[in-house]
Amino acid sequence: MQLIDGKEVAAALRREIATEVAEMVARGERTPHLVAILVGNDGASQTYVGHKEKCCGEVGFRSTVLRLPAETGEADLLDEIERLNGDDDVDGFIVQLPLPKHIDEQKIIEAIDPRKDVDGFHPENVGRMVMGLPAFVSATPDGILQLLRYYKIPTAGKHCVVIGRSNIVGRPVANLLSQKGWDCTVTMCHSRTENLAEVVATGDIVIAALGKAEFVIADMIKPGAVVIDVGITRVPDPQKKSGFRLVGDVKFDEVAPKCSYITPVPGGVGPMTIISLMRNTLRARQLR
Ligand code: GUN
Repeated sequence: MQLIDGKEVAAALRREIATEVAEMVARGERTPHLVAILVGNDGASQTYVGHKEKCCGEVGFRSTVLRLPAETGEADLLDEIERLNGDDDVDGFIVQLPLPKHIDEQKIIEAIDPRKDVDGFHPENVGRMVMGLPAFVSATPDGILQLLRYYKIPTAGKHCVVIGRSNIVGRPVANLLSQKGWDCTVTMCHSRTENLAEVVATGDIVIAALGKAEFVIADMIKPGAVVIDVGITRVPDPQKKSGFRLVGDVKFDEVAPKCSYITPVPGGVGPMTIISLMRNTLRARQLR
């Protein structure tokens, strides 16, 4: 069994991006600029945005965080988006989710200029991605593909079972892996799938993205399968100083010995997602 080290891959890709940025700057070109809009005081969102800011610094991007109060109205947020759409100094921007309840997230996503939508959430980017056209692909699916590529894991003709049909992970990753170049035969499972354990056990590649801690057990895994764990759940653990530990959707200790490759949680898919955002921002800069 080989552990897929997301931190190592993320560090390698971060160095590649930093080199490209340094070359751009040496040619006298403007530094890529990413803006994050953060509405309200959600603790997890503040942490994520902090990580994104730090990573921007590491690769040499300019980064700006617009912190707006929780009471910001939808119309004011739409005005801010309109301003960023038209700001030539901004290559890409994201609106950190979730938004306060009084704001319609879909309306906000659809207001972002697709050419600056480095989260890849706008329906135009999703549609282009599904059609195999150049598009900004969202962070988690792209991160998974980068891990498979880095470890040169064969995908052509393999049966990939995706557990979970969310718009941000299951659906896009299932679609991407079915496309030319990846060439998987894909099955997407969900809460209504009959005989789920038997279906998962036919997977050469299993992507667990259902959001249920330690759902995938060893009996569901074909010997030699590749297991990608997208889940991340806090479970109480009095032995930890924080009072919790992070677990994935896969029961790691019993599944790992059966796999050819497996991603740990934390340290697998997680560290890749910010890199995908950086890759998209660099591309947005290059396309302008
Ligand atoms: N909230 C959790 N993950 C994400 C993400 O990738 N992008 C945005 N905009 N919000 C998030």
